[in-house]
Amino acid sequence: MAIPASLQKGLKLPVIAAPMFLVSGPDLVVEACNAGVIGTFPSLNQRTTEGYREWLQEIKSRLTPDAAAFGVNHIVHPTNPRLMADMMVSVEEKVPLIITSLGAVRDVVDAVHGYGGVVFHDIANVRHARKAAESGVDGLILVANGAGGHAGIINPFALINEVRAFFKGTIILSGCLSTGQDVAGALMMGADFAYMGTRFINTTEAMAPAAYKDMIIESGATDIVHTPAVSGIPANFMIKSLQANGIDPKTLPEHKLDMGDEAKAWKTVWSAGQGAGAVHDVLPAGELVGRLISEYRQAAEGFRARSLVA
Ligand SMILES: Cc1cc2nc3c(=O)[nH]c(=O)nc-3n(C[C@H](O)[C@H](O)[C@H](O)COP(=O)(O)O)c2cc1C
Repeated sequence: MAIPASLQKGLKLPVIAAPMFLVSGPDLVVEACNAGVIGTFPSLNQRTTEGYREWLQEIKSRLTPDAAAFGVNHIVHPTNPRLMADMMVSVEEKVPLIITSLGAVRDVVDAVHGYGGVVFHDIANVRHARKAAESGVDGLILVANGAGGHAGIINPFALINEVRAFFKGTIILSGCLSTGQDVAGALMMGADFAYMGTRFINTTEAMAPAAYKDMIIESGATDIVHTPAVSGIPANFMIKSLQANGIDPKTLPEHKLDMGDEAKAWKTVWSAGQGAGAVHDVLPAGELVGRLISEYRQAAEGFRARSLVA
């Protein structure tokens, strides 16, 4: 249980601003890293592999010397035709943290380790966690119930306890973490990092439109629905966004509705996690990180003050 040495540089709080399709780009990554948390983005947020390389070079040029590390998400699946080309760019540009989704593959892990990088892999259940651990990943991102995007359905306490029993690498907890208190709670549960998506949509630098951010402010946990209807794989979406697109949340099918390709679906119907209920504003990512740090300190002090254990 530890944070890899290469990711400790510049880290002021063990938080990863999670990669989000159509939402995270260079501005968010740079602001997050310069403020002291790990910023990330999916390589597919750039339309081409060359564009992806340009984003990497731009990010590197804008990071301050004491910035935290940054990371990139790759979808490791045959349906991603850009995987090989994007991975080669990641290796050439020595991306410090690679986050793999869907496939945990030994070759990818070896390629990243070859230049001193770190691999974290997304899992939503214990079977996938075991498979990923066998492929040699450095960390597992436990995507629990209520997370934004392709969320899991398992309670975070249950998931972390089962995974910790066999996995000795870094544990990153994902799902509904919105405040510094939540970060403290994740660490108390045994996570090494808190992984925060929805909270970072509501930053000035996130590429989501203003109406998306407003809808998050207006949504609570019961305004989120977990459905395969938008993307084909179960994911969490805002009910208000489904309704705005004329989709009745009460009669959602168990299959993908015809909404065009994946990008069109996510652009049309907006995803957020159940933690939206704790998001009340839009602010610069650097300010958000400052707030998270002070909330985290308050939580730690409050815990010590309240603790009944000697
Ligand atoms: C709009 C949106 C897009 C997402 N896109 C991706 C993605 O492209 N790749 C990925 O690994 N995870 C993606 N996720 C999941 C996040 O990385 C993260 O696991 C999740 O947002 C954490 O839960 P939270 O939103 O409750 O904080 C996405 C989440 C959201 C809300």
